[in-house]
Parts: sequence; structure tokens; C-alpha cells
Amino acid sequence: MKYSRVRAYMSVVLALLLAAGSEVTCAQESHIGSRTGEASRGKQLYQRYCVGCHGPLGDGRGENAPWIDPKPRNFVTGTFKCRSTPTGALPSDEDLYKSVTRGFVNSNMPSWLPLTEQQRADLIAYVKTFSSRFREEKPPSPLQVPSEPEANQQSIQRGNKLFQKMNCWSCHGKEGRGDGPSAQTLLDNRGYPIPPYDFTAGTRFKCGESDQDLYRVLMTGLDGTPMPSYASGLTPDQAWDIVHYIRTLLANPKHERPRAEGEQRDKGESKPVGGATEASSNGF
Ligand code: HEC
Ligand code: HEC
Repeated sequence: MKYSRVRAYMSVVLALLLAAGSEVTCAQESHIGSRTGEASRGKQLYQRYCVGCHGPLGDGRGENAPWIDPKPRNFVTGTFKCRSTPTGALPSDEDLYKSVTRGFVNSNMPSWLPLTEQQRADLIAYVKTFSSRFREEKPPSPLQVPSEPEANQQSIQRGNKLFQKMNCWSCHGKEGRGDGPSAQTLLDNRGYPIPPYDFTAGTRFKCGESDQDLYRVLMTGLDGTPMPSYASGLTPDQAWDIVHYIRTLLANPKHERPRAEGEQRDKGESKPVGGATEASSNGF
């Protein structure tokens, strides 16, 4: 009798230990394809490469943070801009890996491509330890990106109408120059001013360059910024129409050619974004 009670007790303890153990391992790991990243190794890399901006506690308050705009990400809240998962959800390990690999244009966040894939995977495992959300929640499965319809003139025109109808222009401006009526008033989730993207500036997008990346931004939003998710406001076809339209703002060959000769002068006029890029990349 006594013996079986002890045994029952032991097995409960064992089960609890195992559960705790597996939870800890998951929270300390990242999975990028078939590669597993380890937080213990990531910690050393973090202290060498990331701590100056993101801080020892991962709260974005590193010693360089006061001079940086936009501010380094606070990892504690678990809120990330570039995700394949719905708005409000945690990003996947791959999402974080891609962000760290790509870096963020128009910001001080560099590309970490020079590090090995294993090092980047280890870093992601460590970054995740800063937020308890990664222990408590699982990132939902990524948004499916349906195959892209043809980018013909009709699609572009429908996209133009939607850009006006969905009020993209209120932030991004009627012609996508980032100068809409609310542009000056926008704040991020930490209360810092954040300019809407200027489609005509010719700079890269933060969350990737492909049409699929743009589709994803529209359907998942850039969490922590005023850029909302349109997952419930746009059908997939409408989202593709908008992607096709904003591509024409970026690189309209008819407008681009004559501009190429007088590049310097034109660049000077659209100073805010171009100037900030140069300043920040030098700053780092
Ligand atoms: C010179 C400063 C600086 C350094 C060094 C730096 N970061 Fe960043 N990081 C930033 C800034 C600034 C942002 C926010 C950019 C933005 O919001 O546009 C950011 C954003 C991020 C994000 C958020 C991605 C998202 O989708 O929201 C991750 C993850 C990240 N950094 C990881 C790292 C890792 C890992 C390292 C070290 C290998 C590192 N950073 C080093 C400045 C830095
Ligand atoms: C309430 C203001 C607001 C509205 C409305 C809005 N945006 Fe944005 N958008 C932003 C801000 C702010 C950013 C820049 C965020 C950053 O730099 O982190 C942005 C960034 C973007 C980006 C760049 C993504 C990247 O990877 O860099 C695209 C594309 C975009 N918006 C498209 C749209 C479209 C299309 C609509 C309408 C369907 C729209 N936005 C509506 C505020 C807005």
C-alpha cells in the first residue's frame, strides 16, 4: 500500500519534471528548417553583437538606444513587425531569422548575413527567452499566400481605386509619397513618431522585397506601428491588386528614365527618407 503510494507520488514528480524540462528546452531553442538554435550559445553572440542596442534585458534600452531612431526593438513584449502570422500573434522562428538576416532599411538594425546560419539560429533562440510569451503561446500557422494573379493594367487600376477607398492615402499620401494628412501624427507602440512608408523614395521594404512579402505585410500588418492588418478588410485578389498598384509607384519605368539623369537633384528634394538612410547607415 505504502509502496504504491510512494510510486504514484514519484511518477507525478517525474511527469512534472519531464513537462518542465521539455518546456524549458522548447523555449531555449529555435528551429530554422532542419537547424536547431541553442539559447546558451546565442547568449554569448547577443552580448557581443546586439546588447549595445537591444540592451542586456532585451528591452531595447541598450547604451546606444538614446541616439537611435527608430528605437531598437523591445523583445520583452513579444511584438514584432515582420511576421507571416496574423496580427497580434508571435512571429515564427523563421520570421525572426529572416529579419535578423535581412536587417531593417532606414534603421540602425544591420543585416547579420555575415554571421553563420547556426549563429543566427542560436541568436533567435536567445532573443525568444526575453519574452514569456514564447513560453506561454505558440505562433499560429503562417498565413497562406495564394498564387499571384497577373499584374495587368486592370489589376493596377483596381489597386489604385482600393488604395484610395481603403484610406491607405490618409497615411501614405494620395500619390504614395508618405505625406498623407495623418502622416505627421503617427506614433509607434512606444510613443515615438513613425513616418509612413514613402513608395516613391525607391528604398527597400522592411519586411522583404518580393510581391509575396508585400502581400504578407498587407494581410498581417506591421505590429507595434500604425500600419494595420487588412486580413479582414481585403480579399486575396484585392490585396494582390494593391500590391500591383504600389509597385507602379515604386518603379514606373516611364517616370524612372528621365529621372535617372538628374538623380542627384531629385534625391535632394525627397530628402527626409533618403537623408535618414545615409545618416543611419553611417551612424552604425
Ligand atoms: C545598431 C543598433 C542595433 C544592433 C547592433 C542590433 N539591432 Fe536589432 N534592431 C535595431 C533597431 C533600430 C530595430 C528596429 C527597426 C525598425 O523597427 O525598423 C531592430 C529590430 C530587431 C528585431 C525585430 C524584428 C521585427 O520583425 O520586429 C530583431 C529580432 C532584432 N533587431 C534582432 C537583433 C539581433 C539578434 C541583433 C544582434 C545580432 C541585433 N538585432 C543587433 C537596432 C539594432
Ligand atoms: C494609419 C496609418 C496607415 C495606414 C492607414 C496604412 N499604412 Fe501602410 N504604413 C504605415 C506606417 C507608419 C508604415 C511604416 C512602418 C515602419 O516603418 O515600421 C507603413 C508601411 C507600409 C508598407 C511598407 C512595408 C515594409 O515592408 O516596409 C507598405 C507596403 C504599406 N504600408 C502599405 C499600405 C497599404 C497598401 C495601405 C492601405 C491598404 C496602408 N499601408 C495603410 C501606416 C499606415
